[in-house]
Amino acid sequence: MRVTLTAIKADIGSIGGHIRPSASLLKEVERSLQPHLGSDFIDFRLSYTGDDIAILMTHTHGTDNPLIHQIAWDAFKAAADVAKKEGLYGAGQDLLKDAFSGNIRGLGPGIAEMEFEERKSEPFLLFAADKTDPGAFNLPLYLAFCDPMYCSGLLLSPNMFKGFKFEIMDVSYTEGDKVIALFAPEELYDIAALLRDPERYVVKAVYSRTTGEIAAVASTTRLHNIAGKYVGKDDPILLVRAQGSFPATGEILEPYALVPYVGGFMRGSHQGPLMPVKRNSSVSFFDGPPIVSCTAYCVKDGKLSEEADAFDHPFWDYVREIASKKAIELRRQGFYGNAMLPYGELEYGGIVERLKALEGKFEIRH
Ligand code: F6R
Ligand code: MG
Ligand code: MG
Repeated sequence: MRVTLTAIKADIGSIGGHIRPSASLLKEVERSLQPHLGSDFIDFRLSYTGDDIAILMTHTHGTDNPLIHQIAWDAFKAAADVAKKEGLYGAGQDLLKDAFSGNIRGLGPGIAEMEFEERKSEPFLLFAADKTDPGAFNLPLYLAFCDPMYCSGLLLSPNMFKGFKFEIMDVSYTEGDKVIALFAPEELYDIAALLRDPERYVVKAVYSRTTGEIAAVASTTRLHNIAGKYVGKDDPILLVRAQGSFPATGEILEPYALVPYVGGFMRGSHQGPLMPVKRNSSVSFFDGPPIVSCTAYCVKDGKLSEEADAFDHPFWDYVREIASKKAIELRRQGFYGNAMLPYGELEYGGIVERLKALEGKFEIRH
């Protein structure tokens, strides 16, 4: 059967700051989605990661379908009204436009969608991150799909010998989608040259070169490109198919043990280690650290299996401890150097105004 997975996430308000949504928001999203279930909109699941709610939908409408996008948009809208009534912080924050115009892209919520013919068994992973941006997935995807040090299948499984195609987007471009296709392994250094700059170049999708099938797709929204000003970090989501001609689930997960420093954290303006957390975790320390959750599923005839929380394991407790240590270590230097993002990436304009005011007080001495 041909099925479409649509994952949409939005921050529509949270308790006590930018911490996590309330149970009543999740209930409202569910109440709004439920009546639409039928033979074409087959199934859905909800979760939250920090202050973002993620809706995972399965259906037969294909990607960029107005009906499916509208159902999700209406559910977020309804829940944002509840958030306003409850006085939650940042109520409706990611719903940047008032009216729905046929596609949720460009309206604020992050979206990752893929359509494919279901395999006999179709395992896949939904990653959701908070207090960071879509570039946070650059390194984990590079290592899982390009590097035999992480993905042993590149050496051991003939299904993967041909490697993968990467679609990479330049998110600084605002007139449309500026995308390049590059092929691993031949163009590895070109891929690395782009992915090293995660605030500008972001993995949009990955395809198997053996089967041509889609392997991964990430949300690539830049909220401040839409709103023209800071309205929160982009807090991305990512869908990855696993096993067979794709990396095994454990190969896709392994890079997250690196806890790389990513942009985001407090006020979307700092660097922090990307901590792998359990589903439905809040943020805390310095509005962070940046977190990522991973839920594993199988899908059969569009029906989702029970979920498995991929980072709910003693191994990741140890990794979380490393992430905490890395976060504390970098936070010790406060605003200084690499702890805070460069000017172009600061999500609050305050410091720019401050510097402008100081500029007039400089004097040139010869
Ligand atoms: C980061 C984030 C938070 C806020 C911070 C200040 O993405 O959402 O760290 O930037 O809590 O929030 P405001 O400016 O709303 O008081
Ligand atoms: Mg927020
Ligand atoms: Mg968020």
